[in-house]
Amino acid sequence: MQTETVIVQTLGAAGTGYVSGAAICRNLGMSRMAVWKHIDHLRALGYEIEAAPRRGYRLLTRPDRPLPTEIEPLLVTSRFGRELVYQDRVDSTNRLASALAETGATEGLTVVADAQDAGRGRLDRKWHSPPGTNLYLSVVLRPAVAPQAVPSLALATGLAVLRAIGVLCPHLHVGLKWPNDLWLDGRKLGGILCEMRSELDRVHHAIVGIGINVNALAAEWPADLAATAISLRQALGKPVSRPLLLAEILRRFEEVYDSWQRDGLKPLLPELETFSILNGRPVRVHDLAGDLTGTAVGLTPTGALLLEQPDGSRREVIAGDVRIRPA
Ligand code: BTN
Repeated sequence: MQTETVIVQTLGAAGTGYVSGAAICRNLGMSRMAVWKHIDHLRALGYEIEAAPRRGYRLLTRPDRPLPTEIEPLLVTSRFGRELVYQDRVDSTNRLASALAETGATEGLTVVADAQDAGRGRLDRKWHSPPGTNLYLSVVLRPAVAPQAVPSLALATGLAVLRAIGVLCPHLHVGLKWPNDLWLDGRKLGGILCEMRSELDRVHHAIVGIGINVNALAAEWPADLAATAISLRQALGKPVSRPLLLAEILRRFEEVYDSWQRDGLKPLLPELETFSILNGRPVRVHDLAGDLTGTAVGLTPTGALLLEQPDGSRREVIAGDVRIRPA
């Protein structure tokens, strides 16, 4: 664990009590000055730490930010999040993760930010990414699969996020709207942006970006999102810990990713189908070929949406934007 994580853990374990500076120095094998510098940095990150002469340090409050010092102790993964790059602000975690992948980042490296200035969604849309409330993360992956298999990774990721939310918020009914939307009470709760760099037959890397509206309040949405976006907090009536949710997502994502890479999407389909909000619904799909209408009847092992058309024929839709039509 990083030095500052150890300091926070030590202070946290003492509860409301003090930990002497000498004990921290001994534990970490460093000078008082070095410990002081770390304490100062932790304060700048948002930890409220009291220093009392002859008694030592006491942790008063810790920030609800997805900081490495909060996440590291919660991680149970072997690779995902073990290298964690945290930024208060970044243009886009996907952009930064991709740049790091280009310079050799290993699989599992995770970029997380408190805010994004140019958060992006599918189809060149913007991803609203204010500070202090939501989760924005991207994971570098180097899957040993053919490039054509990578689009189904967005669905597998969606499943992982749904499992994670299910652990922390078991009473919420969050669904998956093909291909990459997390849906709650008819509104958008989150989205997944899967990007890759590949040759015809080889994937260099894939970047999976995950954005979740965690603690945004109804009044905080910009006008154009107020009617279509929702957060976990809005649905639950209480905030959700971003570090806990992030650690749970990384755990579920690593587990689902390993299964997906080994066996493909097929074993995950039954569970995915239970979350799919489109099944049995009349939809309109907008894809490169234009508009299609029909009834969504399921997902295929390659991650396509199966559409039953008005003439009864079935068609696989590989990519597109889906709207539910009024029945
Ligand atoms: C969508 O619904 O269109 C996908 C949204 C994905 C947003 C996330 S936030 C973290 C990561 N960084 C980005 O710039 N985008 C993704």
